[in-house]
Amino acid sequence: MHVRKMMRMAAVAICGAALVAVTGSAISAETLIERGAYLVNTIGACGNCHTPRDKVGRVIPGMSLAGGFEFDDAEVGHVVGPNITPDPETGIGKWTEAEIVTALRDGKRPDNTIIGPPMPTPAYQKLSDRDAAAIAAYLHSLKPVRHAVARTSYKMPLPPAYGPPVTHVDEPARADKIAYGGYLAGPVGHCVLCHTPPGGGEPFDMSRAFQGGRELPDFGKPGAETVSRNITAGTEHGVGDWSDAQIKRAITAGVRPDGTKLARTMPSDWYAKMTTSDLDAIVAYLRSLPPLKTP
Ligand code: HEC
Ligand code: HEC
Repeated sequence: MHVRKMMRMAAVAICGAALVAVTGSAISAETLIERGAYLVNTIGACGNCHTPRDKVGRVIPGMSLAGGFEFDDAEVGHVVGPNITPDPETGIGKWTEAEIVTALRDGKRPDNTIIGPPMPTPAYQKLSDRDAAAIAAYLHSLKPVRHAVARTSYKMPLPPAYGPPVTHVDEPARADKIAYGGYLAGPVGHCVLCHTPPGGGEPFDMSRAFQGGRELPDFGKPGAETVSRNITAGTEHGVGDWSDAQIKRAITAGVRPDGTKLARTMPSDWYAKMTTSDLDAIVAYLRSLPPLKTP
């Protein structure tokens, strides 16, 4: 009941016009679409890149997931989040749900072209079958928004593929709090992609997972950069000596214990609607990480 209420609140806050579609479809496929709505609008933070904002940084009403959020990334190029509403011409309305799942987990469009970064494909490869299907079902249920946007112009080569096609990923056990928190911080919430430094010729140096130090565009200040923080359990360098409440406040409100605000690149606007149990699982997972020093 509580979870469902949270999801509906998320839908109201983020989707505005899409709400009718959500609740309408929820009658026939309640759990899958509601799960998809929760993932997309909270922990998945898809709107952090796919929802356009006005000049003062507010989400433009009626334009949720309609694309056109743009920024420059020093490594990647000029990034434009595509329209992922089901408009047949300017969005993904002609894609089947299976094709959306392939786009998410294999980083490939129906025409076989590769979806480049910063779409978090390396994280989404490990989305469970059910969660990937839930996201696809929810995207299909949205109100189509006609909004043609430019494509990202890359100054780096895109990989030919992200690996062999993903065929099956098990549903993670929610009873195992740390493991489920890891699933949320990795495959679903892509914390790991922003909070892990590049290294070793690879996009991510996973031996330094969650150590921070990745330079990212500041979504709130066009042209400026921000640097992700060490969120391992270190006391001097990480968040090891923060209380649970302080960690949760940073995630959901974008405010550090000393009261300073985090750059808007950190998707707190979406994480704010996460359930308490998901937040608890993420905190438990962060506390389980070996403390790493910030270099
Ligand atoms: C960090 C930014 C970012 C986040 C977060 C993100 N995306 Fe993307 N996504 C992109 C970019 C950029 C592209 C286009 C890449 C390109 O042009 O090759 C893209 C492409 C896509 C595409 C292919 C659309 C097309 O027309 O090419 C789909 C579908 C998609 N994203 C869905 C999602 C969903 C669903 C989520 C959340 C679960 C999500 N994205 C989260 C940045 C993001
Ligand atoms: C799109 C990139 C991005 C994603 C995704 C992201 N973060 Fe962040 N995060 C940042 C950046 C950048 C900062 C630092 C911002 C600043 O200093 O103003 C930050 C700061 C933080 C902080 C504050 C740490 C400190 O010492 O100030 C915490 C805690 C945190 N993130 C946790 C998380 C968790 C947990 C997730 C996933 C649920 C997550 N982040 C996902 C980019 C991201």
